[in-house]
Amino acid sequence: MVRYKSKMVERIHLPAREERERNLADAGYNVFNLDARDVFVDLLTDSGTGTMTDSQWAALMRGDEAYAGSRSFEELESAVADVMGFEHVVPAHQGRGAENVLYSALLDSGDVALNNTHFDTTRAHVANQGADAVDCPVDEAHDPDADADFKGNFSVEKAREYVDEHGADSVPVVILTITNNSAAGQPVSVENTRRAANFADEIDATFVLDACRFAENAYFVTEREDEYADATVAAVAREQLSYADAIVMSGKKDGLVNIGGFVATDDDALYEQTKQLGILYEGFPTYGGMAGRDVAAMAVGLREAVEPGYTEDRVGQVQALGEALAARGIPVFEPIGGHAVYLEANAFLPHLDREEFPGQSLVCELYREGGVRAVELGELAFPAADRPELVRMAVPRRTYHREHVEHVVDTVAAVHDRRDDVTGLEIVDEPEMAEIRHFTAELQPVE
Ligand code: F0G
Repeated sequence: MVRYKSKMVERIHLPAREERERNLADAGYNVFNLDARDVFVDLLTDSGTGTMTDSQWAALMRGDEAYAGSRSFEELESAVADVMGFEHVVPAHQGRGAENVLYSALLDSGDVALNNTHFDTTRAHVANQGADAVDCPVDEAHDPDADADFKGNFSVEKAREYVDEHGADSVPVVILTITNNSAAGQPVSVENTRRAANFADEIDATFVLDACRFAENAYFVTEREDEYADATVAAVAREQLSYADAIVMSGKKDGLVNIGGFVATDDDALYEQTKQLGILYEGFPTYGGMAGRDVAAMAVGLREAVEPGYTEDRVGQVQALGEALAARGIPVFEPIGGHAVYLEANAFLPHLDREEFPGQSLVCELYREGGVRAVELGELAFPAADRPELVRMAVPRRTYHREHVEHVVDTVAAVHDRRDDVTGLEIVDEPEMAEIRHFTAELQPVE
């Protein structure tokens, strides 16, 4: 059941097929180079692209822009305390700003961070401290055929093996990313969170939750973890987050806003340290790189994220998209994640070698066919990495309707029908830094 009606609308436009063809060539077969106005349904990311409620817009108008002591910040503190259970909040302009502040405090050169799977910006911030990012996903995380409820889980066994081999002294941080964005958006169970927290405690490490999608994760727990079958999303979220010493948050996801983030903790010493770093990198501790109005809107958004029915509707839309695609015989990663549907590009285009960028070819075909923008997570984004070749279709929150979902399904199915004729791509131009080449690289079809 959808629980919204529209109060404001934005016109979107599907360019004619020849125009889409031209746009694609002009963009160097890289959809990051497209103008957003030429995109009909934009599934590039779920980050900062959602729609705010009338309550959030009302809060925005009342934002307090004071440099110090802003009332809007008090509202945020109170929302974080009520929804997430933490006393101290250090605001930041977005998730990676919060990561910079937190990991500057927790990591030194030569250290190691263990994580179920590091998201790209997390990995980059760990590296920026001269530390190593080591992933400990469960074995089924990257197996599209494995049937498991919590493929996002942290492998305590792999983490323990690492520590047995290298010693615990170099591991000051254990991180759990919920949901696990880099493993097809799969959830993490509360039971696994508890075990990871105990492990961190054993080795005397700080236990951090990357809580970007904490409400979506809590929804999966209520659906799939027996112990929580009768619990509310709000109660599960509170409990799951309670095991963390600190959380790092991008408000652009389950904060339900277009920009913002924060670190939260109950640890007085860590708070003091991150607060000082926040002043250095982000801004005074009562705004931290956000306008007061954005802080106010995020305070409302956090409360809405755990309201009854919100996640059911939100995750339900993503599931409906995935299920409709699977029903048309399209290879999707299963179970379907919370914020995105991941297409398996190798199975979709089996005649293309990985060197011919099947994922990116599929992304281009989706735009060519229906003006749909997705993102490649394969050979172009992660050169020579041991990861499946995936295409992510991330769904913005509270933004698209059933008709948009149907258009996306029809688009993917139309490409699937003519998949044998889809050719590969080759790189024409790429920047020096391989880690970020997918944002700006230019490609062309292989003849
Ligand atoms: N952690 C996770 C798990 C994320 O998914 C993201 C962003 C961040 C941290 C960084 O937050 O963008 O506010 O600085 N993910 C976006 C995405 C970009 O498209 O998945 P940010």
